[in-house]
Amino acid sequence: MKKGKVTVIGAGHVGATTAHWAAIEGLGDIVLMDVLEGIPQGKALDQSQFRSIHGISCDITGTNDYRDTRDSDVIIITAGIARKPGMSRDDLLATNVKIVKDVTEKALEQSPDAYVVVVTNPIDAMVYTSFKASNLPKNRIVGMAGVLDSARYRSFLADAIGVSPKDVNAIVMGIHGDYMLPLARLANVAGVPVTELLSKDEIDAIIKRTQGGGAEIIGHLKTGSAYYTPAAAAVEMAKSIMFDEKRVLPCACYLEGEFDISGYFLGVPAVLGANGVEKILKFNLTKEEKELLKQSVEKVKEQVASVNKVLGW
Ligand code: NAI
Ligand code: 2OP
Repeated sequence: MKKGKVTVIGAGHVGATTAHWAAIEGLGDIVLMDVLEGIPQGKALDQSQFRSIHGISCDITGTNDYRDTRDSDVIIITAGIARKPGMSRDDLLATNVKIVKDVTEKALEQSPDAYVVVVTNPIDAMVYTSFKASNLPKNRIVGMAGVLDSARYRSFLADAIGVSPKDVNAIVMGIHGDYMLPLARLANVAGVPVTELLSKDEIDAIIKRTQGGGAEIIGHLKTGSAYYTPAAAAVEMAKSIMFDEKRVLPCACYLEGEFDISGYFLGVPAVLGANGVEKILKFNLTKEEKELLKQSVEKVKEQVASVNKVLGW
């Protein structure tokens, strides 16, 4: 059986942690790629030395040369600048849009059959950038944010109720930003609705904390943003594609009429398998949820207009 190969572009906090998780999860050979000379090589060398401890036999290599990424099955894009205190995800757009276009083109030249998972922020606009730059079919490109936001939501709910986060099912839809939509109506603990376990005020406070989950961590770190859970989330998505797990994960997918949205990427529940985004699970939203999702769409439209302006598209 052919060994899998994953390329992680950007060997910073998210990229290096993603490589680490991908190796531990057994996704195959891992290539860490960055423009900074020495950084991907040093981090990959360090990681290759934990193989004996973890009992892993894949190769983990670092490079500045795209030729080493050739024939990857999945490319995870984390290259770009991250937020610092006081910055919004939108403040990253002008810089990251050029980086994401460039790395998408270079990586796909070497791996034309790869599936692409975009992580760089602002994610809903960066996955659009990568999609347009690559001309890939919509099933082959997906953005990571919903898995992270839902993990935060599930974690806060679990702590408030006093149960294992493993037993909390909950989904966050929409944009990765202030207008994200943590759905209380669908959240449950092993099937028991959280609306029966927590008061409305408690749930509202958790929704607010989830929406500001990224900023809360930046407030502590000061020099950058979250990376452990973002990396675990990106690997969960890549794993579902590479092992054809058909996990249902909230991801930024290209929409063509689903939830009455067309022509934009936005967070929705999707089935990830050997054909990438194999299906979007559609369901009826309440009037209030539709209104909130509309706010997400308006914000993404603004971001995409900025992308098109910067790149002259
Ligand atoms: P970081 O600053 O630690 O790492 C970024 C890396 O990208 C650096 O090593 C840099 O040299 C590299 N890079 C820049 N231009 C490049 C290019 N043209 N080619 C290859 N590599 C290049 O930042 P961090 O914390 O790793 O975050 C990376 C991105 O991921 C940020 O945009 C951040 O906002 C985003 N992010 C998105 C999340 C999501 O939910 N979608 C969650 C967490 C982070
Ligand atoms: C987060 O939510 C930085 O977008 C990233 O942590």
